[in-house]
Amino acid sequence: MKNVLVIGSTGQIGSELTMELRKRYNGNIVAGYIPGAEPKGELLESGPSAIVDITNEQQIAETVSKYNIDTIYNLAALLSAVAEAKPQLAWKIGMGGLFNVLEVAREMHCAVFTPSSIGVFGNNTPKDKTPQDTIRNPRTMYGVTKVSGELLSDYYHIRFGVDTRSVRFPGLISNVTPPGGGTTDYAVDIYYAAVQKGYFECPIAKGTFMDMMYMPDALRAAIELMEVDPTRLQHRNSFNIASMSFDPEIICSAIKKRLPDFKMEYKVDPLRQAIADSWPNSLDDTCAREEWGWQPEYDLESMTDDMLKVLTGRLK
Ligand code: SER
Repeated sequence: MKNVLVIGSTGQIGSELTMELRKRYNGNIVAGYIPGAEPKGELLESGPSAIVDITNEQQIAETVSKYNIDTIYNLAALLSAVAEAKPQLAWKIGMGGLFNVLEVAREMHCAVFTPSSIGVFGNNTPKDKTPQDTIRNPRTMYGVTKVSGELLSDYYHIRFGVDTRSVRFPGLISNVTPPGGGTTDYAVDIYYAAVQKGYFECPIAKGTFMDMMYMPDALRAAIELMEVDPTRLQHRNSFNIASMSFDPEIICSAIKKRLPDFKMEYKVDPLRQAIADSWPNSLDDTCAREEWGWQPEYDLESMTDDMLKVLTGRLK
């Protein structure tokens, strides 16, 4: 039996991860949320939920104790563009929150998964096939919290034996809960715009390559990494994982192949563009493949087929 607390369960990753965990495990899979972002529908009805504000250590500890939690998925964060608008809050949630989670995990013997990101890299990092162990010098608050989070999570593992694990997510593309304020979000918005309006104004410039991943692969990565025998892990916080890399032109043509009337124009957002320019074009995920058997299932073509099928069915 596995008892899991998902902090940030109503967000882009959490809303789907919580449901996937409930499918796979029959223990308590607790949907942690903050007031104003309550779980609804199936997420609310299919299992327990609790108010868990990551900035409140006491609340985390009480929920861990009440549901006998053994694993915490810590998904609370502000995405990159929002974090630039609210850097103090981004630090409070990203680092203060992580510290609370790690302290509870240390005292109450929980394993912890915290997503990291391609945002840990910066302008001095090798851009193509970015290695697992390389320069991490981000200049965004999002990246600063993610690098610090990787270091703190490794510290808690080495110093206190807390079972901390993490992956560096690329841009995540999904059709369930929209992301909010990320630099890679254009690659989600473009599918909604294609189905609803046949037209998309792209905030990221032609030729800007970033790693992306379809949500089903991202959920599998988060679950499979937490299940792997720890003796296989040489790295912990955090693994490069990858499945596809494209620029706006490439995703646009994948959509046009299926919706020939689709049109895209550029209206570049300087803030997001500067962030995107500082991130890698593509990651080398050899370590994840070797240490825990990471293998993506979706590429741009199969993801585009699925996104358009699901969104057309729902929105048209
Ligand atoms: N999707 C995130 C963002 O764009 C990157 O991890 O902020």
